[in-house]
Amino acid sequence: MDVQPITPILITGGAGYIGSHLTQVLQQAGYLPLVLDNLSSGQKVSVPAHAKFFEGDMGDQTLIQKIYHDYPFPAVIHLAASIQTGESVQHPLMYYQNNVGRTLQLLMALQHLGIKKILFSSSASVYGEPNTNTPFTENCPASPVSPYGHSKWMLEQILQDLNRAQTIQAICLRYFNVAGAHPTFHTQQHATHLIPIILNAIKHKKPVAVFGNDYDTQDGTCIRDYIHVMDLCDAHLLALEFLLQETHPRSLTFNLGTHRGSSVLDIIKTAEIVTHTKIDIQYSARRTGDPRFLVADSTLARTQLNWTPHRSDPWNIIHDVWTYAPCHL
Ligand code: UFG
Repeated sequence: MDVQPITPILITGGAGYIGSHLTQVLQQAGYLPLVLDNLSSGQKVSVPAHAKFFEGDMGDQTLIQKIYHDYPFPAVIHLAASIQTGESVQHPLMYYQNNVGRTLQLLMALQHLGIKKILFSSSASVYGEPNTNTPFTENCPASPVSPYGHSKWMLEQILQDLNRAQTIQAICLRYFNVAGAHPTFHTQQHATHLIPIILNAIKHKKPVAVFGNDYDTQDGTCIRDYIHVMDLCDAHLLALEFLLQETHPRSLTFNLGTHRGSSVLDIIKTAEIVTHTKIDIQYSARRTGDPRFLVADSTLARTQLNWTPHRSDPWNIIHDVWTYAPCHL
């Protein structure tokens, strides 16, 4: 009987929150994950035992060549990035350097090795401030309002240029608000985004700051589209398989969201229900760089990748973080 060789896949940022979930999903699907992470926010303990771990920078061309020499990977999943909207407004250069500068180095290494397939972790923040309350399709014009969103949009455009030059075949996945946890993966979660911030505040009996309650929304707080990290991982697996099979070098973009908007106050109320705890709210000023409404039309991912986000109800997302990741809050 022929034994199929295991396909190695390079995952930059694979020791981070999303990366560590994805690494385990890829491994369970029969791939060999090659995790490249500089541990600036990721944790080595999050890398599963059977994955290969390389501590280093995604811009380190010598290291990438060495990894390729030992494990000739046909595709890269590029997750490594600085990801906090508020921080990006305060430190724009850091965001352009980390996200754009280092990715250029990575792309040069890939070009040198002749690796064309890349799954890129982009963001709903490329859309910016909407004019209506209609969920965004991938064709809506990009107009980011934070350096983080700008950095992701710049990279999407660079990938499109490389695609036109036939150097790269990319799939850009525009994440909406990712949270949640897997029951047995024991991955690390930092309290840098709304849901873990709320649960962390409950755990430490602290108030939750709500950034702005004067937006033009039903309750005055910002609307987001929350997606369970395991639904996001499913989409990556489907997109990777699509990319590996695709021979025509076109560039594709998919929204990964649920078509359902929840306000900051909706999320706080749901967290109160899940945890049976009353949350103390402190209203503060709007955070610069926050669009009022970011909700996905993900019809394209559902039809072209055959993806269904079936765990992404906010109650379920909050429940899973509270139940399966409490020690990391
Ligand atoms: N918020 C608060 N208090 C907090 C933290 C956040 O009110 O302590 C609010 C924010 O102002 C925003 C909402 O909660 O209105 C969500 O904020 P997050 O910081 O959790 O996430 P962002 O919406 O800023 O960004 C995230 C991802 C991006 C992605 C975006 C898409 O980090 O990659 O969701 O919607 F693009």
